[in-house]
Amino acid sequence: MKKAIMLISICFLALYAFETKALEKDEVDITKLNALFGTNYQGQIYSGYLSANDDGSVQFHYLFYPAIDSASEKPLILWLLGGPGCSSMIAAFTESGPYTFISESIEFEENPHTWTAFANLLYIESPISVGYSYGPAGPQSDESTAAYNMHALIEFFVRHPNFKNQKFYIGGESYAGIYVPTLTQEIIKYNQQPVNPEVLRINIQGIIIGNGCTDPSECTYLGYLFPRHRLDFYGRHGFISEETYEKIINHTEECYGSAAPQCQAIAYEALAQIAGPQYSYNLNQYNVYSKCITYTPEGSKRMKSPLRVSDEEKEDSDVPPCVDVKGLYHWFQMDEVRTLLNIDQKSPKWVACSLNFQDYQINPNGSLDIYPTIIKNNIRVLILSGDVDGVVPIAGTLFWIDKLQNSLQLNTIKPWRPWYVPAWREADKDQNAGNVFDIEGLTFVSFRNAGHEVPADHRMESKIVLEKFLRQEYL
Ligand SMILES: *[C@@H]1O[C@H](CO)[C@@H](O)[C@H](O)[C@H]1NC(C)=O
Ligand SMILES: *[C@@H]1O[C@H](CO)[C@@H](O)[C@H](O)[C@H]1NC(C)=O
Repeated sequence: MKKAIMLISICFLALYAFETKALEKDEVDITKLNALFGTNYQGQIYSGYLSANDDGSVQFHYLFYPAIDSASEKPLILWLLGGPGCSSMIAAFTESGPYTFISESIEFEENPHTWTAFANLLYIESPISVGYSYGPAGPQSDESTAAYNMHALIEFFVRHPNFKNQKFYIGGESYAGIYVPTLTQEIIKYNQQPVNPEVLRINIQGIIIGNGCTDPSECTYLGYLFPRHRLDFYGRHGFISEETYEKIINHTEECYGSAAPQCQAIAYEALAQIAGPQYSYNLNQYNVYSKCITYTPEGSKRMKSPLRVSDEEKEDSDVPPCVDVKGLYHWFQMDEVRTLLNIDQKSPKWVACSLNFQDYQINPNGSLDIYPTIIKNNIRVLILSGDVDGVVPIAGTLFWIDKLQNSLQLNTIKPWRPWYVPAWREADKDQNAGNVFDIEGLTFVSFRNAGHEVPADHRMESKIVLEKFLRQEYL
């Protein structure tokens, strides 16, 4: 009897040793994950935590897909999502990762335009309380987020040293238009005075931002009072009457940042024309020509509308309005998935956008004032703009690029022009995909008929643009 028990435990130990040898730290058991997701992924996935501060009380969840082939020769891209408070898992599973959701379903499909074909992809859920990331409660700010992200990034390179010398890029969308430049600034400082002997230099080459908050007039409290670029966008797209739009144009200089009643009256008049009284009409502002999907997971609260004039109208919600989050909620709240992704008990229940952002300090200056430093350090900038996004619209993006070009006297390298994607059929011509221009240090690309999340709406086009940028080729 005793012998039998011994034998069993030896067999068990041997099995155990085999399992731990086969899987590295943080490596996901892809066989089990494929079985659960109904996928057939052939690459590796890592999922775990990165310490985001010295005492380890702040832990950021990361998901890492090494490129399928020749990972050691490909660049590394870190991708962040905005909010503030929204999870970059949205990007991993609806935009750029190897498997994405079939629209309005919980089923995965292979993404033929996955960025793992040309890069190693790292997604970090940031800052505290976003997705599976956790840490002490309390106020956060753009400054604290940048410091946490920096710490987590160093930890990533220590944990995955094979990737620390590769060309490195940081990208993101929406409010990551703040996170990406602020983290880049931290990296520039770090490279001047590296503190970790295992990471002496971060090989940062460029940044990629899609429909990103940048100018002080976008995404700040001041910017909400009279959302000049949003109003301009809706006026230019025929959502506002000619008379009201003319009033907006006439009063923008006077009304921007003003709480004066005559200015608020103009803003409310326009908002009611766009979205009905009390904004009751569900317009998908993230893509004004797309439908509004109203799936609300059980126990969740859906944001009514990001169109608002005053901060008091801000809603407490974990589901962005009109956005398809069905698959994400289904899988990432599930215990089996948490176990497979090495998620520990301290992590909150996964939601798309964290509710703990009421006391997040938004820097009223935006991130525009960091761009001179970025460009001076030869870090290349790619700005993407889905041209039917009403939240961080193309009008605001062109506004700040123009301001930056004038203030730094940046030369135009190649002026405004259309760009194309290959024809579907031999009989057709290549198709117009948007517009592009290049100035010193910065390339702007618009995506015709893409919304707030360009890589979700236009996967093939995004892949073309990203690959060209990484190869330093003009579109
Ligand atoms: C806008 O300003 C122009 C020029 O001052 C003026 O003629 C026009 O009536 C104004 N439009 C509105 C709707 O206020
Ligand atoms: C915003 O910019 C102004 C002017 O450069 C500066 O004095 C101020 O400290 C900045 N505010 C923050 C929060 O960084």
